[in-house]
Amino acid sequence: MQWVKVLGGVVGAAALLGLGIILGHFAIPKGANVPAPSVSQDLDLEILETVMQQLEASRIRENLRELSREPHLASSPRDEALVQLLLQRWQDPESGLDAAEAPAYEVLLSFPSQEQPNHVAVVSPTGSVVFSCRQSEQNLTGEQVGPDVVPPYAAYAPPGTPQGLLVYANRGTEEDFMNLQTQGIKLEGTIALTRYGGAGRGAKAVNAAKYGVAGVLVYTDPADINDGQSSANETFPNSWCLPPSGVERGSYYEYFGDPLTPYLPANPSSFRLDPDAAPGFPPIPAQPIGFDDAKSLLCNLQGPVAPAAWQGALGCDYRLGPGFRSDGDFPADSQVNVSVHNRRELRNSSNVLGIIRGAVEPDRYVLYGNHRDSWVHGAVDPSSGTAVLLELSRVLGTLLKKGTWRPRRSIVFASWGAEEFGLIGSTEFTEEFFSKLQERTVAYINVDISVFANATLRAQGTPPVQSVIFAAAKQIPAPSPVGLSIYDNWIRYSNRSSPAYGVVPSLGSLGAGSDYAPFIHFLGISSMDIAYTYDRSKTSARIYPTYHTAFDTFGYVDKFVDPGFSSHQAVARTAGSVLLRLSDSLFLPLNVSDYGETLRSFLQAAQQHLGGLLEQHSISLGRLVTAVEKFEAAAKALEQHRSALQKGSPDPLQVRMLNDQLMLLERTFLNPRAFPEERYYSHVLWAPRTSSVATFPGLANACSRAMNTSLGSEAWAEVRRQLSILVVALEGAAATLRPVADL
Ligand SMILES: *[C@@H]1O[C@H](CO)[C@@H](O)[C@H](O)[C@H]1NC(C)=O
Ligand SMILES: *[C@@H]1O[C@H](CO)[C@@H](O)[C@H](O)[C@H]1NC(C)=O
Ligand SMILES: *[C@@H]1O[C@H](CO)[C@@H](O)[C@H](O)[C@H]1NC(C)=O
Ligand SMILES: *[C@@H]1O[C@H](CO)[C@@H](O)[C@H](O)[C@H]1NC(C)=O
Ligand SMILES: *[C@@H]1O[C@H](CO)[C@@H](O)[C@H](O)[C@H]1NC(C)=O
Ligand SMILES: *[C@@H]1O[C@H](CO)[C@@H](O)[C@H](O)[C@H]1NC(C)=O
Ligand SMILES: *[C@@H]1O[C@H](CO)[C@@H](O)[C@H](O)[C@H]1NC(C)=O
Ligand SMILES: *[C@@H]1O[C@H](CO)[C@@H](O)[C@H](O)[C@H]1NC(C)=O
Repeated sequence: MQWVKVLGGVVGAAALLGLGIILGHFAIPKGANVPAPSVSQDLDLEILETVMQQLEASRIRENLRELSREPHLASSPRDEALVQLLLQRWQDPESGLDAAEAPAYEVLLSFPSQEQPNHVAVVSPTGSVVFSCRQSEQNLTGEQVGPDVVPPYAAYAPPGTPQGLLVYANRGTEEDFMNLQTQGIKLEGTIALTRYGGAGRGAKAVNAAKYGVAGVLVYTDPADINDGQSSANETFPNSWCLPPSGVERGSYYEYFGDPLTPYLPANPSSFRLDPDAAPGFPPIPAQPIGFDDAKSLLCNLQGPVAPAAWQGALGCDYRLGPGFRSDGDFPADSQVNVSVHNRRELRNSSNVLGIIRGAVEPDRYVLYGNHRDSWVHGAVDPSSGTAVLLELSRVLGTLLKKGTWRPRRSIVFASWGAEEFGLIGSTEFTEEFFSKLQERTVAYINVDISVFANATLRAQGTPPVQSVIFAAAKQIPAPSPVGLSIYDNWIRYSNRSSPAYGVVPSLGSLGAGSDYAPFIHFLGISSMDIAYTYDRSKTSARIYPTYHTAFDTFGYVDKFVDPGFSSHQAVARTAGSVLLRLSDSLFLPLNVSDYGETLRSFLQAAQQHLGGLLEQHSISLGRLVTAVEKFEAAAKALEQHRSALQKGSPDPLQVRMLNDQLMLLERTFLNPRAFPEERYYSHVLWAPRTSSVATFPGLANACSRAMNTSLGSEAWAEVRRQLSILVVALEGAAATLRPVADL
């Protein structure tokens, strides 16, 4: 009903503005209110300052209160209501935006059964249940129970009711299970208790199944998230620490995107894989539990004491099992039964897009996005980012409405659906608009969790975006300490020594933790993720304590994470400044020379860590060295060309040619054939790496597989193939940086 009503409103608004019908097509509309554009329109520092001033902490707080008022699991009624809320805000003529749309995809999600709750129990040899893990979190603030709070579960874990002796398997890495086997612990038919961290969620189940384990339990150890705090008086609501009953939910699917439509958008008519044959789901049942229940299980285990590195903060010696000790809380030979009744279901999940048409180069897009769906209330994850997104769109919309400003390039705001299940909404979007986005997107800005903690900025991205983030951060005051810029504060917490600049803040690299993943890995679009975060000298926590639990609420953020919302405002200003610089600057503020520094450091790491091994196999890194040199020279020449152009009053076509070289550089590092075993990963510099050495991933992975094989093996052929792929990519990149007329 609501949907139909809103559609009526949409058509009305569009007709008023004369925008034409754009629903479902992600089209940049013809703009209303377009001041006569000047082809040399450049970043206006006064506009930038106005935007910085108008981003209000109190409005971000109110946005967050509304967004996190109710649980909004992907495709739930409240998630749909938020789709309408965002759509209405962006379609309202008062918003100043040119258009908004909310295309849905039909995707495979996974939910626990309401009729048959998942259940973990200790069962005595006579078959009686002697202990049950809780099925929901403790009702501490009145918000942790209710029909809309999804009980803790491992999304996509298959249904099943395995029962067996319990073993403790640390983090559930392959090495952990091997270690247990080496110690003579019989794993066949057991239930493995593992802790979060180390291996990915799904990987724990995959590794366990390889050793014959029948079911997996996963818990959050207070040592990993609370800096050891574990008693009720030390945890939420008395502090920001995770209460003993808190359970981290999460997706256990091994890839990203809709599981049934890899490389195709999940439209109703798309080809779909058979759900029972689709790869990437955990092979055995899994269920997450709280650390109070984990303590009851783990502290009663028998068997050898676990290695020191496997111990945690539950207040007992962790033993390996199998099975419980006879003088503990449970009858001898008791087993653990893990009953999982999850169901996979096709559901509609929407993205919401809000569009500002560029005045001069409407065919160049700057994308700014975050997901909308949460596990429970999701105040930090992801509403802290969406609260910032809404405030940014409000402020820019106000300027548009007044007619004082219209960006040079188009801006697309995005609220992605079903990210928690595996970056689904954003991935489907990149699949549907693959070519258009590759041809026209300048950069993607992701602000998911905007505030993990209140100490310092944290940014991740590819090298071309470093300079624009630095430029933004230098001009914004840090919330604390007074007098320092965000940049000056950042450098105190996290820095590195750069050959070109001296000591600078460290820009992290992009993994696949949020919706930037399909943009960088699949499309090769320069991307970044911006947040405020911890003082790492004061905490070793994996992530903020209530991550993916029912305790991640508005009150939690308001009281503990960012009272006053000054860190949220700092992120809004930083991301907003980056957005304006990318969309308004005449010359794109992407520095391709900074890629040279990364390539040089990857090369040095390869020479140092792989050089000897390669030499033994008569493989020379000489061509790679030359390719890096060629890249550096071409980037430097391009910088000089840019400086020369910037001095005069440049020919607009010359500027556009240069900007296209800057925009498209990232694309040149894609090779869709480089990693046939990976899905979506085709960026030869940022694909997943198994070793901890920061170097070329394909080469490093191939070397570690080839290491102990003979000279003529296929594994060594793969090393040579990876080296060629790299050389070709780097030489190709250098070629695109050289003057356009040079072939
Ligand atoms: C949860 O706690 C609130 C008050 O804090 C109470 O009103 C509500 O009834 C409780 N719900 C359940 C199911 O216990
Ligand atoms: C685990 O418990 C469920 C019901 O609680 C039962 O149906 C199932 O058979 C048990 N699993 C095993 C392997 O005994
Ligand atoms: C919390 O309780 C424990 C024992 O239950 C006690 O030792 C500790 O001092 C208390 N901590 C605080 C901060 O009150
Ligand atoms: C998704 O929405 C379309 C259009 O409203 C509808 O035809 C379809 O049945 C929906 N799919 C699911 C799984 O609800
Ligand atoms: C972060 O918040 C805490 C709790 O409100 C406060 O004590 C601390 O001073 C803040 N830190 C910074 C760097 O602002
Ligand atoms: C660099 O970071 C370290 C902490 O990692 C800090 O001790 C040092 O003071 C920082 N350097 C600068 C110049 O701020
Ligand atoms: C780009 O980066 C290089 C160092 O990698 C630096 O020398 C140059 O000044 C930068 N250019 C701009 C326009 O910031
Ligand atoms: C290769 O052999 C070395 C030395 O025997 C050993 O340390 C290493 O773990 C082996 N690597 C692999 C990948 O098997």
